[in-house]
Amino acid sequence: MPAELACGRSGRRRPLEAARPLEQRAELRGAQWRGSLRLLYKPGAMDSEPEHYGVVGHPVAHSWSPFIHGMFAKQTGQSLSYRLFDVPPHEFRERIVGFFAGGGRGLNVTLPHKMAAAEMADELTPRATRAGAVNTLAARGDERLLGDNTDGAGLVRDLCDNLGVVITRRRILIIGAGGATRGVLSPLLTLEPSQLVIANRTPERAAALAQDFQDLGSVSGVGFSDLTAEPFDLIINATSASLKGEVPNVPAGALGKDTFCYDMAYGKTDTAFIRWARGLGSSRAAQGWGMLVEQAAESFRVWRGIRPSTTPVLAALKERAEGAGT
Ligand code: ATR
Repeated sequence: MPAELACGRSGRRRPLEAARPLEQRAELRGAQWRGSLRLLYKPGAMDSEPEHYGVVGHPVAHSWSPFIHGMFAKQTGQSLSYRLFDVPPHEFRERIVGFFAGGGRGLNVTLPHKMAAAEMADELTPRATRAGAVNTLAARGDERLLGDNTDGAGLVRDLCDNLGVVITRRRILIIGAGGATRGVLSPLLTLEPSQLVIANRTPERAAALAQDFQDLGSVSGVGFSDLTAEPFDLIINATSASLKGEVPNVPAGALGKDTFCYDMAYGKTDTAFIRWARGLGSSRAAQGWGMLVEQAAESFRVWRGIRPSTTPVLAALKERAEGAGT
């Protein structure tokens, strides 16, 4: 289905913009976000129909979220639609207002909109405030828009519950100091690792990020060349290097034979980081498929109040991805 189309109440497909009355569109253009949702949103208007959800990004055509949330809905017997919305940054605010004003109940937010979504929300959860980014928007009963961030919870769920990795009292290295790292620091530090080191190609960014999270535990920020040869228990790759087939220049000594290596990126075959880890003798390594499914399950819980089982969805996703390519 083309990403620009949404299903109108009649079930016919119409462009998002055309689905609204003209006067409402004019109002949206002039409206500041805060308060505008309260004016336009009609709670309960869609009670007898499937409630509308989706993922907004740019680009977003590659997203697995419709597949994942479709499986969650089927498994839990929830009646909902879930669609892709490819929205460029300059249209983000207006399109989000329009979605919720039209009765939409929730959106996942992906690149490059996570920070813009945090600015739009009427209220942020503590974990979204810490992350400075929102990946889940939810229309609340009081007509306010809640911003949450489920990325960190998804990572921790995958590591601890699915993969059996221990974080408490362990030495953790996280590579990268961008938004992906910021989004997961709080849940990781809550589990009280003995040490959490952020290493980044640009050391100043790592140091600044560590400074922001000092109050939550033992966290420091360094450059790759500052890392000593003492192996970590867990190395998490949170850089965008895998997307370009590159590997961060981390010294081999950071990895020991028992080090678990986790790439927040994922692909049909092993990412460059996973190949690097295996090449250095790591027998315990995983890509971010599980994080993808777990953060989605947490978003589903925020929206629907029920947490779906992730195991069958993860298995189906991997099977489908391996068949289709990613
Ligand atoms: P995101 O929001 O996905 O984290 P970002 O804020 O652009 O995106 O951050 C990307 C991260 O990947 C940064 O830490 C970046 O390092 P710099 O801060 O030095 O730019 C890191 N990164 C990207 N490509 C990399 C590569 N080839 N090697 C090492 N680090 C890389």
